[in-house]
Amino acid sequence: MKTSRRLFIQSATALGALAALPVCANTIKPAARQLRLLVLGGTGFIGPHEINYALARGHQVTMFNRGKTAPGMFPNVEALIGDRNGELDALKGRDWDAVIDNSGFFPRHARLSAELLHGHVGQYMFVSSISAYSNSLRVEDDEFTAAYASMGGPVDESEHIYGPTYGARKALCEQEISRVYGDQAINIRPGIITGVGDPTERLRHWLRRMVAGNEILVPGEQNLPVQYIDAADLCGWMIRLLEDGDASGPYNAVGAQEPYRARPFLEGLVKATGSRSTLTWVDWEWVKKQTREIPSYAPWYREGATPFMQVNNDRALASGLTFRPIGDTANDMIARLDEVAVDADRQGGFSAAKEAELLAEWHAAQG
Ligand SMILES: NC(=O)c1ccc[n+]([C@@H]2O[C@H](COP(=O)([O-])OP(=O)(O)OC[C@H]3O[C@@H](n4cnc5c(N)ncnc54)[C@H](OP(=O)(O)O)[C@@H]3O)[C@@H](O)[C@H]2O)c1
Repeated sequence: MKTSRRLFIQSATALGALAALPVCANTIKPAARQLRLLVLGGTGFIGPHEINYALARGHQVTMFNRGKTAPGMFPNVEALIGDRNGELDALKGRDWDAVIDNSGFFPRHARLSAELLHGHVGQYMFVSSISAYSNSLRVEDDEFTAAYASMGGPVDESEHIYGPTYGARKALCEQEISRVYGDQAINIRPGIITGVGDPTERLRHWLRRMVAGNEILVPGEQNLPVQYIDAADLCGWMIRLLEDGDASGPYNAVGAQEPYRARPFLEGLVKATGSRSTLTWVDWEWVKKQTREIPSYAPWYREGATPFMQVNNDRALASGLTFRPIGDTANDMIARLDEVAVDADRQGGFSAAKEAELLAEWHAAQG
């Protein structure tokens, strides 16, 4: 596997969970029918978005997790305690209309929960990833033409969940779910997810710089594609898919409507945030010669990244996925920037000091 996909996924575990997210419950109408939903996970990044939206729609939610991550996050939601690694007794003898599986990273774990819950849940929605696709992915591919990533060896369950075989393991998990649930299996394949609670620096880096009003070094080409989806848009749509009841199969869940390009994406952020920042585009080959630090917040510059930043989302759009403007995502995140602890000197790539140094060298080199 090339480093491209791996790098923009690895940072996803970097920081802990936020407190429960506010949802504009008064703007979300109750669903036509109430569902009993089981959420495997629920207290990390996207789980809280799912749960808050589901509660606002009037659904009954049960979480299943180890009780380690943010245990007090949802005091009024039933929490079943166990472990994907075979400790599933708490799930026995219960029935739900649907399950959302956020915490499946190993095929054995997916198989155990899928088989145990079979006959006790209607639909099984598995949160996969576009990383489940092989590096042969083409821009013209869709969910049904793209090839799965392959393991190339036995699954090592001691591997970090976001380790090198993350995508191939997600592909195997999907296959386990589909084998057990057939048409009742829904495999959601997000790309880069951001929004309130995003534990990575992939958007927050830019927002911090923009809030500070700094000159911002942007490595690379201005016309490269980029797709970020707000977790709130993703999770609201996932819940509505379950309400509809007839969703089935794989869905690429990537934003936005049109493939963004790096330049309008960043300029749009500057404008929406009212920032004084200027963007200085710096040749990527030049940057690589100056520093080995990897700007994880600029995933579109990775070798081989383009097809993974321009994934076809037609199927999701046809089923009701919508996007808020990226500026709204940015401002929601800025309002809560300080709730996520970060190392002020190392914000996911270049430190602010290193960035200033590189900018000075770049300007000097340009004469
Ligand atoms: N972030 C992205 O850009 C991105 C992109 C594509 C796909 N995804 C996928 O999105 C999914 C959602 O991740 P998330 O962190 O946001 O989910 P989440 O549901 O918000 O958080 C992870 C949950 O899983 C629980 N958990 C972890 N290990 C467990 C275990 N062994 N047994 C039982 N529960 C366990 C954690 O609680 P405890 O620690 O208390 O057990 C926590 O509640 C992942 O599958 C990821 O692959 C993310």
